[in-house]
Amino acid sequence: SVPQIRRLISHSHYQKHLALPWLAPHEKGKNNASRNLRLPSQSLFSKTVAMMFSKRSTRTRVAAETSAAMLGGKALFLGKDDIQISWNKGEGGGESVRDSARVIGGMCQGIFARVGGHHEVEELAKYSPVPVINALSDLWHPTQVLADLLTLHEHAHLFTPESLAEKPMPTPEPVSEHKEKEPEPEPSTESDKKTKYTKSKKAKKFGGPLPELPSLTIAYVGDSANILHDMLVTYPRLGHNMRVASPVGYGAPKPVVSKVRELGIRLEGSTFGQITEQKSEHGFGNILWFEDPKDAVKSADVVVTDTWISMGQESTKTQRLKDFTGYQVTEAMCEDGGAKAGWRFLHCLPRKGDEVDDEVFYGPRSLVFPVADNRKWTTMAVFDLWIGRWDTSAEE
Ligand code: CP
Ligand code: NVA
Repeated sequence: SVPQIRRLISHSHYQKHLALPWLAPHEKGKNNASRNLRLPSQSLFSKTVAMMFSKRSTRTRVAAETSAAMLGGKALFLGKDDIQISWNKGEGGGESVRDSARVIGGMCQGIFARVGGHHEVEELAKYSPVPVINALSDLWHPTQVLADLLTLHEHAHLFTPESLAEKPMPTPEPVSEHKEKEPEPEPSTESDKKTKYTKSKKAKKFGGPLPELPSLTIAYVGDSANILHDMLVTYPRLGHNMRVASPVGYGAPKPVVSKVRELGIRLEGSTFGQITEQKSEHGFGNILWFEDPKDAVKSADVVVTDTWISMGQESTKTQRLKDFTGYQVTEAMCEDGGAKAGWRFLHCLPRKGDEVDDEVFYGPRSLVFPVADNRKWTTMAVFDLWIGRWDTSAEE
């Protein structure tokens, strides 16, 4: 639900700022900061999260393993060749998903599952006695959109009309010359002392409030896959508009279209009837679906893409590369299509190279690595609230 999404994002921000000082010990000791250090939540103390992964992963796996450790617990990685499970309905003569869910859920306090078909994670959830969280299926990738959102909020200053009117400049190289910072003058009066204390305590405790985002136009260019699908059911409900372009034959699958409509989000495009640009109800944003990438990036604040060949689609690579010709995200395509001068770029990674060129991917518009870092803090918030404290917060 929308309140749950908002809670997870602000909890990620809060936990991140509690945890960061622990990860940078060289910062300890300055201004006696070590006295004020507080551990992030320890709600996974003596608990184990089973990671049932039938596909490879870098970010989701590292985020889960490191954040479980930080919450005082353990993530137990169970790759497809590590356990007796047979994901494809008894194929290979292994143990059923149903029995595996019951057994693993009997020893662990949560399951984080990366699967092929979405029905596999649903079956796990049906038979598991503990919470099951989707770490990616062919249809959805819910933990990714949380990291995208946290990153957009943290970079809200880039989405003011002034910033969006200007093309971002390359960040200057760091200055190598080491300069000692001027020591701050000691507060002299009682009231100065009080102000300094209040400010620094607040800043340390909360990392400052999470900045609010204005309503954005988010363009997605490429394959209608798991990454896009979670954006479709999330961003419009938070008031952002989406513009999508995919080649004919690579549009949204039926269960995704049904979910979008069930949530009350307007979806328009050539395959969904005429484009009228009518607003959704309840203050939601809408989704406009095109064929031409240039139509999708019109007035975009953010441009997003994903690989054209998702895990499991390797055998169709040649055909896909042909069908997606012209869908690469480049400066020229976005300029021709009329994206705002200051548009920013997101990609969940791993990048395969065809869907975006180096100039955009490594350029000043790109937020791809801050998003990758934020996979950790958002996964940590999910584990904390839904596994560490599931008995008290699951019903909220
Ligand atoms: N973005 C993402 O889920 O990456 P991994 O496949 O490496 O986990
Ligand atoms: N669409 C991609 C996302 C990887 C994180 C895939 O499913 O392979």
